[in-house]
Amino acid sequence: MRIVLVGPPGAGKGTQAKFLTENLSIPHISTGDLFRANISQGTDLGKQAKAYMDAGDLVPDEVTIGMAEDRMDAPDAADGFLLDGFPRNVGQAEALDAYLAAHGLKLDGVLDLEVPEDEVVRRIAGRRVCRKDSSHVFHVEHKKPKAEGVCDECGGELYQRADDAEDKVRNRLDVYHRETEPIIDYYKRQNLVVTISALGPVAEVTQRAMDALRREA
Ligand code: AP5
Ligand code: ZN
Repeated sequence: MRIVLVGPPGAGKGTQAKFLTENLSIPHISTGDLFRANISQGTDLGKQAKAYMDAGDLVPDEVTIGMAEDRMDAPDAADGFLLDGFPRNVGQAEALDAYLAAHGLKLDGVLDLEVPEDEVVRRIAGRRVCRKDSSHVFHVEHKKPKAEGVCDECGGELYQRADDAEDKVRNRLDVYHRETEPIIDYYKRQNLVVTISALGPVAEVTQRAMDALRREA
């Protein structure tokens, strides 16, 4: 299956992606996690992305599309993948369509996570991520680590992302409405969008998402 996950910052895309990709046996491709891994490894790509990310702006398409395509080219993605955080504007959606067409592939669905803005702000304010691997995600109320400040999965230090500061979050929400929401209409024209509520316990949201994807398949 080839799925795109969309939703505002803090909707729970990364959290759901983890369970959905386990259930569907496909890799989780998060452009945000790829950028953060490049930043922590000090690569040129990481250096190019860092200032944009810290401000909550989109990294330019010239950098992002190539990185996403390289990841989709990897052998583990040959039979499917779940894209989290890509595409994030109409230009990227068009680039993805061109990539898929060139490989004789198509998307099976676009899962749109709906969450009210006040809940998104609460989720982001309490989020803590692991320094060693930003896909290890916790929440000070909803998903407390066993030991405060320490990642349960790898023992790494937990910290608050620079772009999770309140003023950066406001910018990320603006960018989402302006740049990313139009891709939902873009995919609606292809009849690919399923929208679910991402409110409630994590396991319930996963169940809702699996049911919606099964109906699409
Ligand atoms: P990215 O890392 O993709 O950030 P985002 O889209 O803003 O999404 P988040 O990671 O903030 O949230 P999420 O929806 O994954 O929520 P999570 O599961 O963590 O991108 C960061 C930056 O990278 C961008 O701003 C941009 O600069 C750059 N970038 C990335 N992709 C790009 C692209 N394609 N083009 C250009 N630039 C790009 O959950 C949030 C919190 O809520 C967690 O603490 C979690 O534990 C908690 N939570 C989750 N579910 C629930 C629940 N059901 N109930 C209660 N709490 C919950
Ligand atoms: Zn960790």
